[in-house]
Amino acid sequence: MNSPIQIGAYSLENNLMLAPMAGVTDRPFRQMCKQMGAGLVVSEMLSSNPKVWHTEKSKMRMDHTGEHGVRSVQIAGSDPNLMAEAAQFNVNNGAQIIDINMGCPAKKVNKKMAGSALLQYPEIVEEILDAVVNSVDVPVTLKIRTGWDTDNRNGVQIAKLAQQYNIQSLAVHGRTKACMYKGNAEYDTIRAIKRAVEIPVIANGDITTPEKAKYVLQHTNADGLMIGRGAQGNPWIFREILHYLEHGERLPEPELTEQCTVMLEHVSNVHKFYGGISGVRIARKHVGWYIAKYDQGRSFREHFNGIDDAAEQLDALEMFYSRLHKKLVSSVA
Ligand SMILES: Cc1cc2nc3c(=O)[nH]c(=O)nc-3n(C[C@H](O)[C@H](O)[C@H](O)COP(=O)(O)O)c2cc1C
Repeated sequence: MNSPIQIGAYSLENNLMLAPMAGVTDRPFRQMCKQMGAGLVVSEMLSSNPKVWHTEKSKMRMDHTGEHGVRSVQIAGSDPNLMAEAAQFNVNNGAQIIDINMGCPAKKVNKKMAGSALLQYPEIVEEILDAVVNSVDVPVTLKIRTGWDTDNRNGVQIAKLAQQYNIQSLAVHGRTKACMYKGNAEYDTIRAIKRAVEIPVIANGDITTPEKAKYVLQHTNADGLMIGRGAQGNPWIFREILHYLEHGERLPEPELTEQCTVMLEHVSNVHKFYGGISGVRIARKHVGWYIAKYDQGRSFREHFNGIDDAAEQLDALEMFYSRLHKKLVSSVA
């Protein structure tokens, strides 16, 4: 990666970003990914419908207390005026960058003709970009897919609109809306988009290893990379990619003791953030990702999912890692 991406007044520490993922990139996870080297983390999307801003779920998504680094908040919707109001609302609430979601294929979002469904209607895209960019003083970024189906990969057209309307960086997921998450992401369209515009382009989709990161950068010539699922239960991926890109060799896997420490910190932050049974429930999902790579993970997960108490969850996790460690030591001896 060349020079650090500049988004308005913000010069990122590096050009690796955590993708916005509803139900995943909450404050504790964003915090952990930042700690592990992500140059920018993006919040879970917030609806532009003001009627839902007061729900518990939205309130949690809007909570940036104590968050380090630049706060990028994603908004989703299709009505330009509501999107502009949502942008203002979130800036007043601490957002330093507003990211517009035109990448999400979820039915719930698309039913309201938002997310990647908008790619089919460039005139509405224009209205939204215009309204949002002109409603706030902070930089606005955009996240798109390559098009709405494989016969209509209009990412270049949308990217040119983004540039025209002063969007400060563009993240592109290498699938169309119709592809959902099927098949493999393709990077030719991202390369074509990068060639067509001067604003920073961030490549996204299926980047799960340092080698893949290097390949995608070289193939697309993108200015940065955005990582989503590859970071679930694996926040180390950011420092691993950074190291590989800089030194051309892989960092060793984090030691079990570090894995355990990081996961305990993450899980206890989830407990503190959500509190009560919500914290315990949400922790289960993340723990499932952390331990999936271990043979013993499946049976432990069944046991773990039966635990309803935060402190007991932490004890069980410590025990799990201590057993793994003992096994590792005895296999080396
Ligand atoms: C559980 C989940 C939730 C997601 N939520 C959002 C979202 O809120 N906004 C958005 O723009 N994209 C969302 N995405 C898409 C991701 O940001 C990303 O573009 C996609 O997962 C491809 O990147 P990856 O292969 O690195 O995961 C979501 C993806 C997943 C798996």
